Order: sequence, then structure tokens, then C-alpha cells
Amino acid sequence: MKLSIILVLLVTVEQILSSPARRVEPVAIETYLNKARAVLDRVPLIDGHNDFAMSLRDYARNQVGDLDINDLTALEPWASSPSSHTDINRLRQGKIGAQFWSAYVGCTTQYKDAVSKTWEQIDVIHRMVEANPTTFEFVTSAQGIEDAFAQGKIGSLIGVEGGHSIDSSLAVLRMMYDMGVRYMTMTHSCATPWADNSQVDNPGGVAVHDGLTPFGKTVVAEMNRLGMLLDLSHVSRKTMRDALETSTAPVIFSHSSAYALCNNTRNVPDDILQLVALNGGIVMVNFFPSFVTCSSTATVQDVANHMDHIRNVAGVDHIGIGADYNGITEVPVGLKDVSEYPNLFAELIARGWAETDLEKIAGLNLLRVLRGAESVRDQMAVTGVKPFDEWIPQADLPAESLPCSTGQTKNEQSSPQ
Ligand SMILES: *[C@@H]1O[C@H](CO)[C@@H](O)[C@H](O)[C@H]1NC(C)=O
Ligand SMILES: [Zn+2]
Repeated sequence: MKLSIILVLLVTVEQILSSPARRVEPVAIETYLNKARAVLDRVPLIDGHNDFAMSLRDYARNQVGDLDINDLTALEPWASSPSSHTDINRLRQGKIGAQFWSAYVGCTTQYKDAVSKTWEQIDVIHRMVEANPTTFEFVTSAQGIEDAFAQGKIGSLIGVEGGHSIDSSLAVLRMMYDMGVRYMTMTHSCATPWADNSQVDNPGGVAVHDGLTPFGKTVVAEMNRLGMLLDLSHVSRKTMRDALETSTAPVIFSHSSAYALCNNTRNVPDDILQLVALNGGIVMVNFFPSFVTCSSTATVQDVANHMDHIRNVAGVDHIGIGADYNGITEVPVGLKDVSEYPNLFAELIARGWAETDLEKIAGLNLLRVLRGAESVRDQMAVTGVKPFDEWIPQADLPAESLPCSTGQTKNEQSSPQ
């Protein structure tokens, strides 16, 4: 058969499979769902980004002592919130195996109380885990995720969302690592004094630094030395490039989708997807309709299209899931909350994805990336790399930061008595 005929046939099959009119028989759906659930019994489903801790702050003022988080479907204000997608019952239904819980405080805290408020979010995640010991286990390594999964627990990790949270201090970064933080999103929706965020790539946007400053590259090196993953969701394209060039460890995008399918600057362009493949990292696909379809609605099929696209451009080894539940205000049909992850896997099975590939996107890819960062950390220790202990140059700090700082002079400006 001529190649062109084969291509025509392939295109036709492709069109049938992706046609919106395609009807999957109910029996088939049930079979796919059962296969999907079996995959998630074998390997942990590891989601890169959930903002439940932000909800704890917003709805409960972090007062979680008496809060029962098994079922939040009938308790106000959770019940009527468009951003309440998580509770223990639904995590179990959705077959989550491990979760990076986001410690997020907004950019309005920058140069003010970002550090203490971030500690509060780290603290509330620890307390949520400790209060629910039959469900959660606090973990800090790839092995920890596997061990918790083997015991039927949801391995719980922390990601700090936004470089403003460290107040340009490598000491704070190190202490956050010690408190269990295993990734840091390099920026949120503001530039830090050392990195640009994605908004500079919007039409009319102007770069503040053009990517990472020299100090920003030192932040990357210190994260590599610690074994903390770099998260490039929310950063500008140039920051993505600079970080990919600087990092000796694989990186993640904890909650971003494909720019080619929706041109939101929170998504990852194809040229960067190719660099992520070279780096050995992953893009954990975000479910927010604004990033999936560039509109207020989406379906599980639309999310699967992002998986297909990233597979085509970067390869199946570079895909993960970072739904962004509790941070997003709209959800796709078929992925309404954390209980519905199996629908996405069923959709991919319907598209002919191999189960070994589903295991990769569920969790094996993230485990590989985390192990990669751990091994870079161990290598750097073996070669005697010491903690990077320089301070950010005073000249790198913007004027707006100065009123809230005592500067970089001696402690003893007033007498210590
Ligand atoms: C995305 O595409 C739309 C339509 O072409 C355009 O108006 C918008 O500016 C684009 N967004 C970006 C970030 O380029
Ligand atoms: Zn985010």
C-alpha cells in the first residue's frame, strides 16, 4: 500500500476517534474505567498541584483542629464554593496516590509578610496530615511516596508556590526544605527581584529582568544542591529557558498545559516542551478550562488532547497531572473534582494509549524526576559543594522593598541590652 493511502486511512481513523459525535458504548466506558482503576491500583497517581491549603486559609482561617475533612460537600462555605473540589472521600474515589499540596500566599505579601504567611501554609499542611493519619502520610522523597502508597496512604508533599515566599533569602529556602518543601514555583503572578513571571509574555508585557538574574541562577543552583524541584509553572518563557539551561536536575511544570492548544502564557510552548524532554523533566497538565480551551468550559476530552499533544512533541516520558483543584474556579465536564481522575485515564485508554504509558503519566514519570533531583543532590554532596550563602545584592532590590527592610547592615543598630 502506498504511504499516502496509509496516511489517509490513519487520518480517517484519527478523525473518527476524535470526533465530538463519537459515541462510546456504556459497556465500553465501564471496561475502560475498570482498566483505569486497575492502573491506579498498581502505581500511585501523583498530582502536582492542589490548593486545598489555600481553602483552609480562606474558609477556616487555618483553624483545622475540629474540622472534619472527610466530606466537605454539605459544609458551608465549602459546599457552595466553586473552588472546593477536595475532601478525603473524593480523594479516595479518585484514587489519588500522592499529592503535592501547595503552600501559596499571594503576591500582595511580597516584601511584607510573605515568609510568615508561607510558614502558616506549610504548618497547616503538616497539621492536616497529622490529623488524618489513616489517610495521609507526610513524605519527602520518591521512596517515601512509594512506601506510603504500599500502605494505602496518600503520600503528602509540599510545594511552595511563588519565589516571593523566600524573600530573596537562600537561608529561608534551606529552612523551607528542612520543613519538607520539595518544590518551589519560581514565581507566581509577580516578578521576584531575581525572576520574571509569565505575565511579561502577554501582549504589551515588559520584561523586568529578561529571565533569571545572576542571583536567580544561584537560587537554581541551591535548589539543585538541596534536591528541591524547580517548578516552572507561572514563569516567563525566558525564565523557563534560563532555568532549563542552569538546572542540572530535571524540572517540573506543576500545573501548566500546552500553549499550542490554548495560547495562555501559563501554558508551555512547543519549543520549551522539547527542552523539557532534553532536561528529563515533566509538564503536569492543568485542568483549568482557561488553560485547556482558553474558555470557561472544557471536557475530559479537551484535557486528553493536551496529553496527546505533549506526547507528540516531547514524548510520553514528559507528561504528568497537576489538576490545580481548589485553585481553579471552573472545571471540565467529566473532571468536576478530585473524585474523577479515572475518567481521564479511561479516555486515554479509549484513544488507544498503552497501560504502561498510563502508568508513566500517573506517577512513574514524577517518581523518575524526583529521583533524578535526589541523585543530583547526592552527587553535589559527594563532590563537596557547600551551601550557597551569598546575599542578594542590595542593588537588585526594588525601591518598594526598602521600607519593609532593615537593610543588609549589622544587626546591632540599636544597643542589644
Ligand atoms: C491568543 O490568541 C488570541 C486570538 O488570536 C489573541 O487575541 C491573544 O492576544 C493571544 N494571546 C497571546 C498571549 O498571545
Ligand atoms: Zn498557580
